[in-house]
Amino acid sequence: MTISSLLFRSLLLCFLINNLSIAAAHDYDKYNGDEINQVCAGCHGEFGMGGKEGKYPRLAGLSAAYIYKEMIAFRDRTRPNMPMVEHVDDRQMPNDDIMDIAIYLNKIKLATRLSVVDEKAPNFDAYARLLEAKQTIQIPKAQGDIKAGKKLYKKECKSCHAKDGMGNDKELVPQLAGQYTQYLTRQIKLYTEKKRSHDKEDPEEEFFKSFTVEQMRDILAYASVLDD
Ligand code: HEC
Ligand code: HEC
Repeated sequence: MTISSLLFRSLLLCFLINNLSIAAAHDYDKYNGDEINQVCAGCHGEFGMGGKEGKYPRLAGLSAAYIYKEMIAFRDRTRPNMPMVEHVDDRQMPNDDIMDIAIYLNKIKLATRLSVVDEKAPNFDAYARLLEAKQTIQIPKAQGDIKAGKKLYKKECKSCHAKDGMGNDKELVPQLAGQYTQYLTRQIKLYTEKKRSHDKEDPEEEFFKSFTVEQMRDILAYASVLDD
């Protein structure tokens, strides 16, 4: 076991035992988080909203423990991510920095719809509107049979990713709701090709292979409307 995974496990244990926020196990430095975010923003956007149609996933609001775990996986190269490797090596980003950015991103809450305003009103503030738009994401309804997807989701995914698609922080299960469909589709492919592991306990699992392309499309179509 590497030191980083050992450290992660002990931090995770603190996190699980007192069931407080991960911030309790770490002296959170918001200013450091904000500074690190300038680097992440180049790809994931200044509010962690991701973009380029899911080339860059949304990070805002994801569980801090999950973000932390994935960053360590990028560093250890157990999860492939060439664009990020240079940003996560030990010297560039010690574990304390990863904690700060993970908590920082978790605390960003994005809205799912824009408020109704009259753009012709004399006091309309275009800059404020732009900022609001950047902090709003609504995943477009993806192609597929939502009803069939819902049925499959309930049977096969809900137990871990939760009824509302928001995942399970304690079990480090990420949210599928509010995440870009194209990004999720790409991850399923990585899992199927065993380039990423969906179940650490059972890396040889063939879970996603048991679904047809249409079934998975339907499940992700359902996931795309969970944030409506
Ligand atoms: C050069 C572009 C780039 C930069 C800079 C970058 N990322 Fe990423 N990041 C990516 C890409 C691309 C992916 C998606 C990889 C994939 O599709 O598997 C990703 C994925 C992630 C994920 C996985 C999300 C999930 O749902 O599993 C996390 C967490 C993440 N990045 C955190 C960060 C943080 C924190 C920073 C700043 C320290 C950062 N990234 C900087 C390109 C970047
Ligand atoms: C036994 C619990 C469990 C079940 C059931 C499950 N998942 Fe997951 N899922 C996880 C965990 C844990 C992760 C994080 C794994 C990792 O670190 O790569 C994950 C990650 C994912 C991701 C990557 C998300 C991201 O942000 O990168 C996708 C996509 C996904 N699951 C889809 C599904 C779908 C679709 C189903 C149902 C067909 C499903 N999962 C069923 C536990 C589960």
